[in-house]
Amino acid sequence: MSTGKAQILIDKQRTIAPISPLLFGGFVEHMGRCVYEGIYDPASPLADENGLRTDVLEALREQAYTVIRYPGGNFLSGYDWLDGVGPKEQRPRRRELAWQSIETNQFGTNEFMEFCDAINVAPMLGVNMGTGTIQSASDLIEYCNVPGGTYWSDLRTSHGFSQPHNVRYWCVGNEMDGPWQIGQLEAAAYGKKALEAAKMMKWQDPTIKTILCGSSNDQIATYPEWDRTALEIAWEHMDYHSMHYYTANHDGDTTSYLASAVAFERFVDTLEGTLRYVKARRRSKHDVYLSWDEWQVWYSQQGPVQGNWTEAPHLAEDVYALEDALVVAQWLNVFLRKSHVIKIACVAQIVNVISWLQTRSDGLLKQPSFYPFKLISNLARGEALDVRVKAPLIETKQYDAVPALDVSASYDAETETGAVFIVNRSQTETLVTDVVWQDSEVVQIEKVWQMAGDDPKAVNSWEEPNRIVAKEVSVPMADNGRSTINLPPLSFTVLTTRNR
Ligand code: AHR
Repeated sequence: MSTGKAQILIDKQRTIAPISPLLFGGFVEHMGRCVYEGIYDPASPLADENGLRTDVLEALREQAYTVIRYPGGNFLSGYDWLDGVGPKEQRPRRRELAWQSIETNQFGTNEFMEFCDAINVAPMLGVNMGTGTIQSASDLIEYCNVPGGTYWSDLRTSHGFSQPHNVRYWCVGNEMDGPWQIGQLEAAAYGKKALEAAKMMKWQDPTIKTILCGSSNDQIATYPEWDRTALEIAWEHMDYHSMHYYTANHDGDTTSYLASAVAFERFVDTLEGTLRYVKARRRSKHDVYLSWDEWQVWYSQQGPVQGNWTEAPHLAEDVYALEDALVVAQWLNVFLRKSHVIKIACVAQIVNVISWLQTRSDGLLKQPSFYPFKLISNLARGEALDVRVKAPLIETKQYDAVPALDVSASYDAETETGAVFIVNRSQTETLVTDVVWQDSEVVQIEKVWQMAGDDPKAVNSWEEPNRIVAKEVSVPMADNGRSTINLPPLSFTVLTTRNR
């Protein structure tokens, strides 16, 4: 272990953009145990009157989610939303092809709305562009958003929901570029279908916002041509363009893995360029923003992803270590640093499946990456700031040299409070870091949280659930707009500040 020096320069006038509250979203898919045994478990003694797991609800509230995307995912492309509404005893039990599981349909659109109310988030629904038609997409908007007096809105009332759900955010399909997708389409065919669906959807309710499927990842052969083609066709009827991306330390190269923010930023930069190109090409006055509506660390080899035709199988229940939490923190830093173009983000998924939250019949386990999300979603408010960082460089195999610190910051002019989010990605070096508020006002540091460890592979387990958590640590003195703080190797540190 060694010691080095670093500097973080912050100026609250040097803003990037307002931080969209929808950056702190999650994703619920009918996959594995995300819905059943995750958020919905009516047989559990921990369930409320709607069958929702109260311990899960509490943890989700703690994380301050703002929006939840539902019902898939690959599941969406074979889903008939009518299967999931109406009397539960009449709902069909189906073979679900995306995850080769049995879907009982005991949880559907209306139950999802009750769940969103329970944790006070905006719903973001998807319409099926695989086996689904543009008509069924339009019908679902009518079912959800029209107050009454028509076939589909009255059907909702007859199902016990007289008030419209007023769902604002709508994904027009899921990963339609992927060969694994039920009903995959070529980019131009998808662009045209999405355009026609969005026209009908917006005729049903002009206040909705639509999200086009972008490339499923940056490795697929059609990226980024898929994005350009679909955007050129559907541009005027879309408000957001989706990004999906999963990563993991597959090669055991922790040094490169801890520089993952470089890959995230490249992905954003390419798609931001594509948005600008298409806008110019179409001579458009309309803007489309990015919705990173699936992101997470996913060790796909860790758990099965096919359910062998069983109900709520254990799929993709990954175990996450400290290094994964530091990558999650960087991901959230990237959302803030790119907040001029990323307006929605949803972590995939919020419980059990590829998730930092795991349920057992008698309890809940919070894995290390639970904490960076909780801290940033609760504390990043106002505008993202363009922070300057001077830190020693670390050589990586995948990304050349990267600075040891990955930093983002926010400042809320209304409350005169700020926050700084810092990852020290060095595995060996404590960085004695000067944090300088350059606009020289008197800044008081209110609280400091830190998560750190000496083993990047350290995990939380049912036996030792609190091995890696974020702890409040002592506040360093801030004098004359300047403070010095020790950032241990493999750490994530959060400072909150108040301007006096
Ligand atoms: O979140 C798991 C799956 O990952 C989703 O169903 C799909 O959209 C993506 O490939």
